[in-house]
Formats: sequence, C-alpha cells, structure tokens
Amino acid sequence: MKKATIIIDKDFLVDQIDRRLYGSLLEHLGRAIYNGIYEPGHPLANTDGFRTDVIELVKMLNVSVLRYPGGNFVSGFNWEDSVGPKELRPRRLDLSWATTETNEVGLHEFCRWAKTVGAEMMYAINLGTRGIDAARNIVEYANHPSGSYWSDLRIKYGESQPLGIKLWCLGNEMDGDWQIGHHTAYEYGRLANEAAKVMKWVDPSIEVVACGSSHTDMPTFGVWEREVLEQCYDNIDYISLHRYYDNESDDTPSFLAKSMDMESFIHTVSSICDAVGGTKKSKKKIHLSFDEWNVWYHSKEQDRKIKTLDKWGRALPLLEDVYNFEDALLCGSMLLALLRNADRVKIACLAQLVNAIAPIMTRPKGSVWKQTIFWPFYHTALFGHGKSLQVMVQTPFYDCKEYERVPIVDAAAVENDNGEIVLFAVNRDMQEGIELTADLRGYHVSQVQEHIVLHCDDVKAANTECNPDRVEPVRVADGQIDGGKLQIRLPALSWNVIRLSQIG
Ligand code: AHR
Repeated sequence: MKKATIIIDKDFLVDQIDRRLYGSLLEHLGRAIYNGIYEPGHPLANTDGFRTDVIELVKMLNVSVLRYPGGNFVSGFNWEDSVGPKELRPRRLDLSWATTETNEVGLHEFCRWAKTVGAEMMYAINLGTRGIDAARNIVEYANHPSGSYWSDLRIKYGESQPLGIKLWCLGNEMDGDWQIGHHTAYEYGRLANEAAKVMKWVDPSIEVVACGSSHTDMPTFGVWEREVLEQCYDNIDYISLHRYYDNESDDTPSFLAKSMDMESFIHTVSSICDAVGGTKKSKKKIHLSFDEWNVWYHSKEQDRKIKTLDKWGRALPLLEDVYNFEDALLCGSMLLALLRNADRVKIACLAQLVNAIAPIMTRPKGSVWKQTIFWPFYHTALFGHGKSLQVMVQTPFYDCKEYERVPIVDAAAVENDNGEIVLFAVNRDMQEGIELTADLRGYHVSQVQEHIVLHCDDVKAANTECNPDRVEPVRVADGQIDGGKLQIRLPALSWNVIRLSQIG
C-alpha cells in the first residue's frame, strides 16, 4: 500500500482561522429565495413564510456569513424596492437572470432570517446601475441609529435598532461584460474608492470588499486587480476572488486536482496586493474574500432551455446542479486550500446555499435534502476553527491530462477551540488506500477520537429526493497513536476528518 507522512508542529501556525471562512452566497436567483428558503404555505413554514426545515439544515451547516442579495442580481437592483410594506413593493424585471423579482423577501425579512440561522450579513451594493449616492443611503438606512431621513425610514418600517451590517461588497464581478454596468478597471477602481470612502464616513466601523477578477481565465486577470487596487487601496479592506470548476471533459484525476489552481489563484492575488501596497509604501495589508467558490456545470444545458421557455418567470429552477461524489471531494480540497491560506483569506462564501448550485435542495410543498457537497463544508465549519497549522505533506504524486505532480494526499490541520487537533485529508487516488503517518510535533495526543470518512464506489453517485443518503459520511474505527505518531488508513478516493484529543 502507498504511504504518506504529514508533519505538523505546535509552534508553526498559519494563523487564527476567521469564522467568516465558512460563509455562503444566497442570491435572488432561481429557487434560492422563492420556493427555497421562503415558501409561505409550505406545511413547515413559520409565520414569516420561511421554511423551518431549511432553517434547521442551514443551522446545521454553521454558515457564518451570508453574502446577499447577489451575485449578478445586485447590478440592476434598487435596494429601496426591498423595504417598506410588502404590498407596495414593485415587481421588477431582473435582467441578470431574465426573471421577475417580486421583492416579497426584502432587507428586513432577510436580516431576520440571517439572525435566525446565526449568520452575519455581507451586503453587496449595486455599482452597476447605481453609485455613491445609493451606497451611502443604504449604509445610513441599515446602520445609522436614528435622527436622519434614511435611519428614521428604517424605524418607520419596523426596525428601531440598526441592522448592524458590518461587511459590504462594492458591487459584483465588475470586470465581466455579462455584468449590468460593466466597468473598466480604472473606472471601477475610482468608483469603488469613492463609494467606500463615503460609506465609511456614514459608518466608520464597516469593512468593504472590492471586486477582483471573476475568474483566472479572464483576459484582464491580474491587471484588473493591480489597476483597481491602485485606485482604492487606502479605502478598502478586502479584494474578492471567484472560482467555479467543472468536469465537462469527464476526467476525474484532472478535476480533483483543480484545487491546486485555486491555491495558486490565492497566492497570485496576495502577491499583487502586496506589490501595490509596496509601491504605495503602505503598511496596510489587503486581505482576501473568496466570496464565490464551488463546482458549477451540471445545470448549464437545462438553464439554456429554461431561459428560452420561460423568460421573465418567477422562482425558475435555475442553476440546479445535482452534485455527485467527485464534486464533494473537490469541494473538500477547495476548503483545505482556504484553511491552508487562513492568514490571507479571511472571508469565503460557498456559492450558493439553497437550490441554486447549492448544498441544500428543496421540493416545493415537499422535502429538503443534503447534496454531496454538504458534507465537507459541514465538517470543516464544525471542526475547522481555532488555529490553522502548517502541514508538511510527504506524499506520492500523480500526473494527469491537465496537471503534473498532483499530491495524492491533500491535507490541512487545525488546533481547534476545544483543544482537539483535527486533520482533514483527501485521498485523490482512485484505486488505492494510503497508509498515513502523522508526526504531531509538540503535541501530546492521547487518542483518535473519531475518524469520519466520506467515500462512495461510484464517483458519479448523487443524493436525490428519492435517495437522499446515497453519499453519506461514516465513522470508522481505525487509527492508532504510537510513540506520539498517528497511523491511519485513508481509503481510496475519500474525504477524511480525523479528530485527535490531547492529554490533559
Ligand atoms: O453564483 C452564480 C453567479 O456566478 C453569481 O451571480 C455571479 O456573481 C457569478 O458569475
């Protein structure tokens, strides 16, 4: 059997893990909001019309931050449409997804829902069709206590206390020509700078995220980041990264290696931030907000059909990817890349949360179930907090069509707030299990508390409404501590969570 070794050392930390690493995007798109989290008339809906079975699963997932209301949706959205009496809110054409937005769920309703599920809000403003004026007004509406036009309007509409939104996105994917109000890097950088400046004048406690590239294949990738940062470095706190992967070529070894691309994306953008900071002689460090990441491709053909059949419909089943086992493995590796870079990536959002490219699926009037990708997110959000530890992995490699020297074992480690050492590992080998030795230097580990494995013999197996538990984690009783070292077996093609308790 193949062998691998992981060395970690108590003194070698990456950084404290920001809890906002386990965020999610929830957009007014498809059935994410309408007939997703919100379905008045469903037998399990609460008095506000939100499904309690969905709330329970979102809570289980421990989502820390919710990026809202988009996505592409924000670039044509008037936030004022989403407040005030529901019956007076306008129905609008949403040009980004060619659907109709009814505004039944608005800012107040969503903030209450976010509170119920225990998540912080990350609000994206419209810098496509709107600008500085709308930006400063919504900060005043949401965060100013009282005594001004917008804050008093919020009070009139039922919220006497500020909504307290601390995290704001300055638009969405403004480098893309698919975006309503797409800008050049210079135009956007100037606009983001001015918007950030006045938003912080209204509420100096907020943090803001400028748009980076939509993905690494954009022709402007790299230059966009540099030019934007040159304009807004002093007034922003984070720059965003977005990345979706696919397996259109049905090449599992290459697909599973794509998290390497994600990690090099993180390193490249960090370097650009530091280069711009260096030329500005700035002491400030810009951190990263990886606020859209996932696998996305299964639903694209179906979406093309829906769009031609039902233009301007409401709650259309858009982006309803059915995720399989290999998708869960790649999502696991993407989470590992985020953990290993916890010194730089402070915010990350799985895109998205319910129905649209989501870990949670619902049937209108029916049940709710967990997709395969639910599981690695669930495990890392539950156990992957505290300190991210540096991992030295000595592993065999493989070559595939798209990459050379892909590590068979992909790993990250944390010392969490409960004093546990938790190793997360993906075995990318399609045929063989691997004997793993973990040398836990400086730790006095007493026992393997739990070894959780997500594995399935069929990489294309999915969880569906009829068979919701097809791909599910199991506990395995194996692993031993010998002379301070852990010996454990990672099955072929598997996601592993190994919880170790310390003596004393
Ligand atoms: O998450 C789906 C879409 O992907 C988002 O609306 C957009 O920001 C990205 O292109």
